[in-house]
Amino acid sequence: RKLYGVMGDPIRHSMSPDIHNDAFRRMDINADYHLFHVLPDQLENAVKGVRALNISGFNVTVPHKTKIMPFLDEIDELAGAIGAVNTVVNREGRLVGYNTDGPGFVRGIKERLGTPLANKKTLIIGAGGAARGIYFSLVKEGITQIDICNRTLQNAKSLIEQCPYETASQAFGFEEAAEMISQYDLIVQTTSAGMSPNVSEVPFEISDRLQASALVSDIIYNPLETGFLRQAKEKGAMTHNGIDMFVYQAALAFEIWTGVTPDSTKMRQIVVNKLG
Ligand code: ATR
Repeated sequence: RKLYGVMGDPIRHSMSPDIHNDAFRRMDINADYHLFHVLPDQLENAVKGVRALNISGFNVTVPHKTKIMPFLDEIDELAGAIGAVNTVVNREGRLVGYNTDGPGFVRGIKERLGTPLANKKTLIIGAGGAARGIYFSLVKEGITQIDICNRTLQNAKSLIEQCPYETASQAFGFEEAAEMISQYDLIVQTTSAGMSPNVSEVPFEISDRLQASALVSDIIYNPLETGFLRQAKEKGAMTHNGIDMFVYQAALAFEIWTGVTPDSTKMRQIVVNKLG
């Protein structure tokens, strides 16, 4: 029986065991997925434990996504550029790190849009770790018309400078971005402002200039509708919460581990039921 899991601190509220174990059962894969509560000073030992116990693969979550990197044998190119790993696969004793968070976001948006992403003019709000993963993944997909706006302009500038792929991105402060909001087809909120329990926080005010045809996405899924998304909905735009990103980062990890594609609709249903 193969063993998988997720390392984090805290970890007990993770929904990953629910979705992966259900997919293993459903697909007749002889495997189990567990929660591993790993404190920061135990991370290196935990990775040694993975080797000793021959654990087949694991997810990595807060606060370990960057710190785990030196303990692995190989890092995928995109994960290396992002500087964070959320998925590790054990290939005959070699631990290889991937990042499926950004690609998971891209896959979720593609399915939601149902149209090619290539010509969408995109605005990313925020310039932290989550923004970085999403930005680099979108650029890697060939979407080059992406601008970044952030409360601290300099952080948006630095993020663009650090992108390893060719882009035509510009950095803006919030006021400037709010003025230009009508230019964007896709707007992605990546900060943690508005996440439970701070549900009254709205990181960015959406002006009336927003196009009704725009897709406005927030990576937060708890609450399912943030104050930011409510604003966008009131202005007539289509909205998209963070459930898809969570579901597809898991689906992509599952594919890396098993080589087969799980039923993402089922995974989504489990998440929605748990949150509902
Ligand atoms: P994460 O890894 O979750 O993205 P992070 O790396 O700490 O978290 O990044 C935080 C991001 O959220 C930054 O873009 C931050 O803006 P600053 O660069 O100006 O600090 C943004 N952020 C956090 N709280 C915010 C708030 N209340 N309003 C607007 N932006 C906020």
